[in-house]
Amino acid sequence: MRPFIVCHMATSIDGRLHPSRFTPPAKGVSADALRRHYEEVADRFGAEGWIVGRKTMSEMAKGSARTIANVPALAREPHVAYRNGRNLAVGIDPSGRVHYGKDNIGGDHAVAVLGEQVSDAYLAELREDGVSFIFAGPKGDDLAGAMAQLAEVFGVKKLLLEGGGAINGSFLKSRLIDEFSTLIYPAVDGLAGVQSIVDYHGAEGERPGAAQALRLIGCETLEGGMVWLRHAVEDAPGSTA
Ligand SMILES: NC(=O)c1ccc[n+]([C@@H]2O[C@H](COP(=O)([O-])OP(=O)(O)OC[C@H]3O[C@@H](n4cnc5c(N)ncnc54)[C@H](OP(=O)(O)O)[C@@H]3O)[C@@H](O)[C@H]2O)c1
Repeated sequence: MRPFIVCHMATSIDGRLHPSRFTPPAKGVSADALRRHYEEVADRFGAEGWIVGRKTMSEMAKGSARTIANVPALAREPHVAYRNGRNLAVGIDPSGRVHYGKDNIGGDHAVAVLGEQVSDAYLAELREDGVSFIFAGPKGDDLAGAMAQLAEVFGVKKLLLEGGGAINGSFLKSRLIDEFSTLIYPAVDGLAGVQSIVDYHGAEGERPGAAQALRLIGCETLEGGMVWLRHAVEDAPGSTA
């Protein structure tokens, strides 16, 4: 059994990914109030952690690469470091590119989801840093298997998926999103080609949301004019999934 996964994202009215590019708040609207909604709403879900893609995790993790010599061959098995009851900060990092430097991100225990292809030296670095890790198959692309392992190894029942667009798109394609929680800023980006909050990198004509349907289950206007939408993800009528 995998955890229940809520894709929780903030966006502009045109669905874009980078708040730094959005139009500023209108006169009298507090930018701080708008920003605060993201964490406050996230807390309402009572999730036991969050998941991000490698690029987003690289922006958050503050470690730097280092070389660890004479590392023995290590089995590609889950490694559970000292979690100490903390929520999980999960990075989907097939090639082992993120350097953590410590065992947490903002107080949440770091867990790397890796491909079996990563080097023994990288695994040794994670162990030294106190980071837990699991494997998502040889190439690190078995997202469903990785989610099932998170439930099995760490006992988590609900996780937030918090971007960026690429990893959200892959979770959608793999049918691993149970709910979308979308905070819409009273703002627009407007530039063609800027990433969106669900941005699957696929072939032309591909439909990552195929056989799925969204049902509106919540709509709230928050201070400053931010709109919080909740959508349950269901099997589309007539789909055989
Ligand atoms: N609006 C918001 O609230 C919000 C939230 C989060 C992030 N962001 C922003 O989003 C940007 C990053 O987003 P992004 O979409 O470029 O990257 P991302 O989703 O953070 O990371 C993508 C990377 O994840 C790895 N990955 C592992 N398995 C994957 C799979 N099955 N499918 C796709 N990727 C997989 C790949 O790493 P490898 O390349 O190593 O293979 C891929 O390049 C950042 O600038 C961040 O600040 C915004």
